[in-house]
Amino acid sequence: MNNLNVAPFVKWAGGKRQLIPQIKERMPKEFNNYFEPFVGGGAVIFELLPKKALINDINKSLINAYRQICHNSDEFIKAVNKLDAEMWEDGKKYYYEMRQHYNDKLMKSEYDVELAALFVFINKHCFNGLHRVNGKGLFNVPYNNSRRVSIDESLIRDVSAYLQGVTIVEGDFEEACKDAKKGDFIFFDSPYAPLNPTSFESYTKEGFDIESHKRLSKLFDDLTAKGCYCMLTNHNTDLINELYGGKDYKIDVVSVKRMINSDASNRVGEEVIICNY
Ligand SMILES: C[S@@+](CC[C@H](N)C(=O)[O-])C[C@H]1O[C@@H](n2cnc3c(N)ncnc32)[C@H](O)[C@@H]1O
Repeated sequence: MNNLNVAPFVKWAGGKRQLIPQIKERMPKEFNNYFEPFVGGGAVIFELLPKKALINDINKSLINAYRQICHNSDEFIKAVNKLDAEMWEDGKKYYYEMRQHYNDKLMKSEYDVELAALFVFINKHCFNGLHRVNGKGLFNVPYNNSRRVSIDESLIRDVSAYLQGVTIVEGDFEEACKDAKKGDFIFFDSPYAPLNPTSFESYTKEGFDIESHKRLSKLFDDLTAKGCYCMLTNHNTDLINELYGGKDYKIDVVSVKRMINSDASNRVGEEVIICNY
């Protein structure tokens, strides 16, 4: 396992690369199964490479990409290379055609190897690797003017080799944790709580509203009672401190650089790493 070169194959908002050293320092020394119910781009699992693991996300296209890379890596690589080759003549026109094709397939629920290839191709050629959809669930991020290749083939093969031992599920975080038992380790990296909640809307960004944050903290309590090791990261906000403070949990505040903030004075932020052990 250690000779595999494994890393995220998509750019993903909220990627945890920056926090990896702090996460590793705080891991339980030993555990049975690893669960990552909000896997996103997978920066954490691809660093830890646990032997027995389950990953989950609510994003169907993302989970389809994990599944296709796991089971059909050759076909996936061929399909992505074809897209990269075909974009050569007129990148912009091609990107928008492929975005349309991707959305047509989404509407028909065609979760296949072609959709996985389109998903990764679009992720690498859209503005900032954003995943944004409109009210109908259609992807609407513009082209980033790049013609760089979408994948590193040897990385995809190593990701595929690693995923052979991983259970890949798609859905809500609560369901994904239902089989967690005493001695298992669950790493939670949910969508962020808002930094400056000025309205109810700010809690519903990405569909993860205040009720979801409450549901997650209840799950954290329930898994703690079962004897699971739990670690959770989020912004250092009042909501998060209300939900996890005053209990027998360790809350460490860590500094992070925020790339997306245009105000330079506000580029260093605080996150929390919460452990129940
Ligand atoms: C902050 S990102 C995780 C980033 C990840 N740690 C990484 O390094 O790339 C949060 C993820 O939670 C997923 N998500 C949102 N609501 C969810 C839900 N109710 N259940 C499971 N996953 C959900 C999103 O699709 C997103 O991929």
